[in-house]
Amino acid sequence: MDMLGEDGYELWLRYRKVDNPGQLAQYRNAIQSAAVLGKSATADIIRRELARALPVLLDCAVPMSDQVPATNALVVGTADEPDAVGATLPRADYRRLGEEGFLIRSHQTAGGTWTLIAGSCGPATLVGTFHFLRLLQTHQDIGALDLWVCPRIRHRVLGHWDNLDGSIERGYAGRSLWNWDELPEITGTRYHDYARACASIGINGTVLNNVNAQAKSLSTEYLEKAAALADLFRPYGIRVFLSPLFSAPVQLGGLATNDPRVPAVAEWWKRKVDEIYRLIPDFGGFEVKANSEGQPGPQDYGANHDDGANLLAAALEPYGGMVLWRAFVYDIATDADRAKCAYKEFAPLDGKFRPNVFLQMKNGPIDFQPREPFHPLFGAMDKTPLALELQITQEYLGQSIHLVYLVGMWKEVLDSDTYAQGPGSTVARIVDGSAGSQSSIVGVANTGSDRNWCGHHFAQANWYAFGRLAWDHDLSAEAIADEWARMTWSNDPLVLDAIKTMMLGSWEACINYMTPLGLHHIMQEGHHYGPDPGFNGAKRADWNNVYYHRADAEGVGFNRSSTGSNAASQYHSPLREQFDDVGTCPEELLLWFHHVPWGHRLRSGRTLWEELQHRYDAGVAFVQEMDSIWQGLQAKIDPQRHKHVSERLKQQLENARLWREVCIDYFGRFATNQTQTNQTQT
Ligand code: GCU
Repeated sequence: MDMLGEDGYELWLRYRKVDNPGQLAQYRNAIQSAAVLGKSATADIIRRELARALPVLLDCAVPMSDQVPATNALVVGTADEPDAVGATLPRADYRRLGEEGFLIRSHQTAGGTWTLIAGSCGPATLVGTFHFLRLLQTHQDIGALDLWVCPRIRHRVLGHWDNLDGSIERGYAGRSLWNWDELPEITGTRYHDYARACASIGINGTVLNNVNAQAKSLSTEYLEKAAALADLFRPYGIRVFLSPLFSAPVQLGGLATNDPRVPAVAEWWKRKVDEIYRLIPDFGGFEVKANSEGQPGPQDYGANHDDGANLLAAALEPYGGMVLWRAFVYDIATDADRAKCAYKEFAPLDGKFRPNVFLQMKNGPIDFQPREPFHPLFGAMDKTPLALELQITQEYLGQSIHLVYLVGMWKEVLDSDTYAQGPGSTVARIVDGSAGSQSSIVGVANTGSDRNWCGHHFAQANWYAFGRLAWDHDLSAEAIADEWARMTWSNDPLVLDAIKTMMLGSWEACINYMTPLGLHHIMQEGHHYGPDPGFNGAKRADWNNVYYHRADAEGVGFNRSSTGSNAASQYHSPLREQFDDVGTCPEELLLWFHHVPWGHRLRSGRTLWEELQHRYDAGVAFVQEMDSIWQGLQAKIDPQRHKHVSERLKQQLENARLWREVCIDYFGRFATNQTQTNQTQT
């Protein structure tokens, strides 16, 4: 084990000698040399990666060549490499790889066995190379490989909420990775390391700037800066996207209006998009926040979301660009229940969008809470391609202090059945385009200038997992944690078991010590860190925490059943009936959908009030357990990273206790009154 200090900069691309003698012997025998065929910037990146990884993993020299080798060797190239790669299979077979797939096969030749990595294009070959290196890093058998791997979702995008001044909205790992002041002239190695990390998990798009956009991001000066990043990222297979400000025609172009129905406005966007594609020929498109939280949008002019989205889509369409139009809207004039607003605004617009518009929803209808039901629009827009937005950065889940592995939450949403086309219409199938449309997924990035990229070493797992899940949403939370932990920490079974126990229990624990049983949005105002269930000082009703839990002498919870706001009716049968009835509503979402009496008995036999206390205790207990598991690993983890995580676990434990104390105290004021009243009556 490497006992030297480590700072986490290497992420999961932490190449170390394979410390399993059997596997090491197999790898050394199979990879006596490595040949990367073809001439391109991407082929050069692959060469560099193999030259960096193989000698370390195998702990011996591995000659690199661009000639077809005669002995056991690793051979890498695109499927159309005529002399070598292409000759190993009939052409028709390679077509199975689609636009972005790769294969990894053991292939017999006269002189020995090739381990062949062939992608349908350069970037696919690069992703395949990282996949192969992952097999070595995680000590897999490579004796008889026959892997055909294609992504399930076409656009796998990181959304950076990075401002042009270098700050990051909801960023907890330092400053922005993009140094706008130095661009386009100065481009450091960190940009390459970012792209390399993204490529290693199959991410193929990056939105450079915050959805709360500034007009300046579309100025020629800033487009040139964005183009410099696009040039750097291109060989890694990553396309650049931008968040435009809807009022840019007025603010940047000096027009009198931004009304999407005015021809001069359409013309302005067309010219702006032409300019973008002159600078960035493979530009991905726009991610747009409009008429949301004060951002300008088409409704400012009496037009609607479809007018706005279609305006931008028309300009992008000739170039193959797309619009990710966010459905994160909650104008309280639409409905007094914030959870219902987006559905009410967008469901009637189904069928009105141009084909290159995606409607993009967060996983749930409120806002990246520790747990939400899936967003009802996923079952309501069968004529519109739908993109799923996940938040990798832990805005509401303890930021870069709490260890919370988010894959359980993401899987829960992806696996949810919307019943839109009968049973089996899961969110995953809607998002991955199984229903016949295009497919996109966006993760709000948790990266920053911190040396370890994500603030917390374990937050790296969420970046990693987002990419892996976007590539293949059938992967389990356990499988992804296993890969990540082996690559980032160790293949030692004791370490792995310990780390996976921590990771796999961490999300449920966080829900328990923050917002159990369907509670939501009771974090402190503004920064959203720490508890404040009693907050009631904001001007807008739905910016107050008491709005969300509605605790009173009778009980607690937001009545979204048919006797309340009836948000349950935005889901298809049988879900709507299930959510509507307090007896069948999943207990995890009980207080999301119901105002429940304190004395109501849950499946555990405990009353609601007892169960709430039980959950808060369970949440705290798990953090305590994580802490003691981690202390037990001290001798097996490098001191620098061990200390860093230890310190954060201590703080997480303190925070979890505080959450319990504040919430039990606050809700107890209602609950115990009620219990006492009941006791007096009986
Ligand atoms: C949340 C978050 C904001 C963000 C917004 C969005 O409300 O707190 O910082 O801008 O989501 O997704 O647009």
